[in-house]
Amino acid sequence: MTVFRIAVLPGDGIGPEVVATGLQVLEAAAERFGFRVDFREYPIGAAAVAHHGDPLPPITRDGVRQAQAVLLGAVGDPSLDGAPRHLRPETGLLSLRALLGVYANLRPVSVHPELAAGSPLRPERLAGTDLLIVRELTGGLYYGEPRSIDRDAAVNTLRYTRSEIERVSRIAFRAARERRGKLLSVDKANVLETSQLWRQVVSELAREHPEVSVEHLYVDFAAMRLVSEPATIDVLLTENMFGDILSDEAAVLAGSLGLLPSASLGDGPGLFEPVHGSAPPLAGKDVANPIGTIASVALLLRYGLRRPDVAERIDAAIGQALRDGARTRDIARDGETVLGTRAMGERITELVRG
Ligand code: IPM
Ligand code: MN
Repeated sequence: MTVFRIAVLPGDGIGPEVVATGLQVLEAAAERFGFRVDFREYPIGAAAVAHHGDPLPPITRDGVRQAQAVLLGAVGDPSLDGAPRHLRPETGLLSLRALLGVYANLRPVSVHPELAAGSPLRPERLAGTDLLIVRELTGGLYYGEPRSIDRDAAVNTLRYTRSEIERVSRIAFRAARERRGKLLSVDKANVLETSQLWRQVVSELAREHPEVSVEHLYVDFAAMRLVSEPATIDVLLTENMFGDILSDEAAVLAGSLGLLPSASLGDGPGLFEPVHGSAPPLAGKDVANPIGTIASVALLLRYGLRRPDVAERIDAAIGQALRDGARTRDIARDGETVLGTRAMGERITELVRG
């Protein structure tokens, strides 16, 4: 029997709860499809700072490198808000992305029709929305050197190399080819040199991919397009910081940040995590939406373990649960029965078992 080795990093806040639910679904899928999963759990974030004095301790670094894929919950804790950078939970996540070299972050956003009524956007604007954000994840302002802060001035550096732009763009072109053949590249080329290089590299690749139609937009205008005509967007490719911002904006289309999954891919094991954060006020209350994590498990199967057949079953189970009226607090409307994290997980697990 095939055994897949998965490193599991529950992290902080609601992370452990949503990860437990995701693993339950994964185990049900493994049983049904006849494979085994060998989970090993490692610390990250504030939980790791508390026990190891390091948001990404050596034991976690070793563990993830030996896994076939990594499932992460969330990191972040208000008690460390003022901590120096090397002790911040977010630093653990950023170091993990760099360690795994996961330069391409895929964030699919689609609208389940039964949730459209709960969106702040008019249903006719939302109809047909199904887009994929491809965010560069290991470069740009997040990692640029030099960086510094003192009392009177602070510095961050925005730097992109041709090869950094090219490798993430290739992933976006491939995704566009397999989807509706449209690529929207987002930059700020009217102001930034990094964006001018970005546009140049994407334009060069466009010549190699005549089957993909390419459009370039400035990020401010793209922010409007996302909410005014979301259904016109297929694959949206952009740099690290713009992608961070636009992906939270895009989450509004789906109805809740709690629904959205992500896959971060490079040349080694991939990293799979919900787009939402650790949500400290919700932690330990069994109210968080586990669907973002369960959908991330589906992406883990699709891209990390190359089992699209299993991924499809999980995605179908999520769709069915929503059609059956299963709602966590974040997606429930007045009068609807609200399920907790565990109960929503049970519903989806049962549907995966079939
Ligand atoms: C995300 C998060 C992270 C980011 C934070 C927690 C460092 O917001 O994954 O979008 O900015 O990349
Ligand atoms: Mn973010």
